[in-house]
Amino acid sequence: MVNVGLVGAGPWGRNLARNIAEGEQTVLAAGCDTDAAARRALAKSYPAARVYETFEQLLAHRDLQAVVIATPSRLHCEQTRQALAAGMHVLVEKPMCMTGVEAEALIRQAEQAGRVLMVGHTFLYSNLVHDVRRRVVSGELGEVLCIYGQRLNLGRVRSDVDALWNFAPHDISIACYLLDGWPRSVNARGASFVQSAQGVADVAFFQMDFDGGAFVGGHVSWLDPQKVRRMVVVGSSKMLVYDDIDTAHHIQIYDKSVQCDFQGCATDFSDFRTRVRAGDLVVPNVRLIEPLGVEITHFAECIRTGARPVSDGVNGLRVVSVLEAMSRSMRQRGAQVEVDYGAWGPREAAAGAREVAAAEPEMVGAATQ
Ligand SMILES: NC(=O)c1ccc[n+]([C@@H]2O[C@H](COP(=O)([O-])OP(=O)(O)OC[C@H]3O[C@@H](n4cnc5c(N)ncnc54)[C@H](O)[C@@H]3O)[C@@H](O)[C@H]2O)c1
Repeated sequence: MVNVGLVGAGPWGRNLARNIAEGEQTVLAAGCDTDAAARRALAKSYPAARVYETFEQLLAHRDLQAVVIATPSRLHCEQTRQALAAGMHVLVEKPMCMTGVEAEALIRQAEQAGRVLMVGHTFLYSNLVHDVRRRVVSGELGEVLCIYGQRLNLGRVRSDVDALWNFAPHDISIACYLLDGWPRSVNARGASFVQSAQGVADVAFFQMDFDGGAFVGGHVSWLDPQKVRRMVVVGSSKMLVYDDIDTAHHIQIYDKSVQCDFQGCATDFSDFRTRVRAGDLVVPNVRLIEPLGVEITHFAECIRTGARPVSDGVNGLRVVSVLEAMSRSMRQRGAQVEVDYGAWGPREAAAGAREVAAAEPEMVGAATQ
């Protein structure tokens, strides 16, 4: 059993606390939060856990082997650094850091300390996302032409990060996982209305350029009337909709495509013919297994075996690097911006995505037993 300390018991921290406490390989030994109400709620739900006010007190808790960090994003880097320095294994929430340079320092620190560094890219632990990937990889959808995500909500408006940094880590990590690659360049446009003086974007549209040629983009917002968590994969022979909140239709596969009949170069409009094919809609019966539970089990397994997590520090760095490039693009009103992965450049980055893909079947098998 791994004794885990939770840092930050806000709404997401409480989900983590439940999964740590219910985990077969983890014990919620301690927690900390600077907010008194959050501390009281944690202590009430988990009387066996020792609850502290400060992070430093938590790190001094006896027999603690790991920490899970779920504080506001701007604290992630420094708290991870301190926890690794104190000899802890660390699972830090997304975004891992605010810059690729910070992320690189943490990767090296964890390597030197021989500790697990894992990032909370929760959807890489979703059996729904694994199912979508299997359909992409098997060629069931044909050639992938287009992928786009929508992660929309009314609130919760944050001030420490904008909507891009809050939501897009998920779309980026899922898309890169589906395509076995990382974008060379990106562009993004954003707009701020609620905190316009501070320039915190409430809504953003982004696009990522992959070597394979698929058109990949996303729309994130906390200023939208509906809660939407959707990803659409348009293939040359079938189209797939993955909806994380539509429990009856998590995955829908449309046997639909558009084909161009004209075999040469259309010189006049009458030569141009397209054929729309609209076949069956299939809704596979895929039961959602709580990804956070799978993630926590994977964290404990990696601590026990020394294996590299699927969402390791390098995976976290690459997502942060893509976000940094998107933010630069937003400041330049949507200019195309190269992604700088530092020591983990495009070729190495592509190899890294394959490592994630290769690690997945073993993890899925373990999660579904
Ligand atoms: N992986 C996911 O799917 C997912 C989903 C939601 C949120 N998150 C991430 O989880 C993190 C937390 O999200 P949230 O919505 O609970 O945020 P939140 O801001 O509501 O809660 C953060 C908590 O941390 C506490 N805190 C602040 N400074 C602290 C410190 N120095 N030491 C200890 N505690 C401190 C706050 O009092 C608060 O209770 C964010 O980084 C967010 O990006 C991830």
